[in-house]
Amino acid sequence: MKNNMIFLDRNENNYGPAPKCYDVLKNLEFSKFSCYTREFQKDSKGILSARFAKDFNLPENRILLGYGAEDILKQTVQCYLKEGDKLMIPSYSWWYYKKLAEEVNGVDIQYPMIKGADSFYYNLDEMIALYKKEKPKMVLISSPTNPTGNSLSLIDIKVVLKEFRDCLVVLDEAYAHSGSNSYVRELLDDNPNLIIVRTFSKYYALAGIRVGYAFLGENLANLSKFTNRYLGYHRLSEEIALAALDSPEYYANMASVMNQDKELFYQAFNAIEGFTVFKSDTNFVLVEVPKEIMKPMQAFLLSRNLQIKFMNEELLNSHLRITIGTQEQNKMLVAAIEEFTSKQ
Ligand SMILES: Cc1ncc(COP(=O)(O)O)c(C=O)c1O
Repeated sequence: MKNNMIFLDRNENNYGPAPKCYDVLKNLEFSKFSCYTREFQKDSKGILSARFAKDFNLPENRILLGYGAEDILKQTVQCYLKEGDKLMIPSYSWWYYKKLAEEVNGVDIQYPMIKGADSFYYNLDEMIALYKKEKPKMVLISSPTNPTGNSLSLIDIKVVLKEFRDCLVVLDEAYAHSGSNSYVRELLDDNPNLIIVRTFSKYYALAGIRVGYAFLGENLANLSKFTNRYLGYHRLSEEIALAALDSPEYYANMASVMNQDKELFYQAFNAIEGFTVFKSDTNFVLVEVPKEIMKPMQAFLLSRNLQIKFMNEELLNSHLRITIGTQEQNKMLVAAIEEFTSKQ
């Protein structure tokens, strides 16, 4: 692999984490490497779960930490879904959703989404109708979602949660960014079977430290027990994650620049004949392009050291998923795509 390759294909955050995260490494005591945490003496699971408990006004046993959001999704399914049980997932979704049920010999049922002219939408009526027909054990909702980039509003989340009372609902907010968090406690109070999953991988630019976290409704005590780590978590990752939480200004500035560049992507790609960009609430955009240009365009971009995701799924096979990189990377990508398409 070329080491000067620019990766805009996995929804990573190329700005990198806040300076305070690097300070953690510079100032780390050796004992953090060699010793287990002693937080248990304070009746706590770890410094990060204690922080979330305080910030979100929840008991610490209702905070989960895991090896990324991926790990939390996996553990939730392993804990509750048994052979033959049904898991409802969005038809357009992160590829791993389609593996989750299979890993425990369960069955996945896909609920459709609406493809609008410039955005995808959840179809609440269809979701609810399918839920009533299939009676799944678990429903997965992703907001904002990957790869289509659309979200479910808080009002709509409440509408579906009201209908999905008899099952466990996983709300995957891997692409959530800062903003009001007060709804977390409110949703959990009203929905004891709900789990809200988040990660440090996207907004906080910390995919490599593998920290995901989740907030549990009151009925999910079994999951809390199932996932307990008596010897603590990765001490270095916890410290780095805390440093990120303590750097709100750095991340707000970065998010504002990325939002400007998202507008640049909308304008630039919509101006190319045959291209359609879908509105995104995330750090990537989905672009529909003429299918026949996918292969030559991929080769062209690779020759320029640019890697984006060329979708190759049943429902999305003439689409690019482009991660928003740094401003310099974004400009290079737009210029390369314009150069390629102008020669077609
Ligand atoms: C919707 C969604 N959820 C969860 C994840 C996993 O994130 P993590 O790095 O925290 O495991 C991803 C990764 O791309 C994702 O797209």
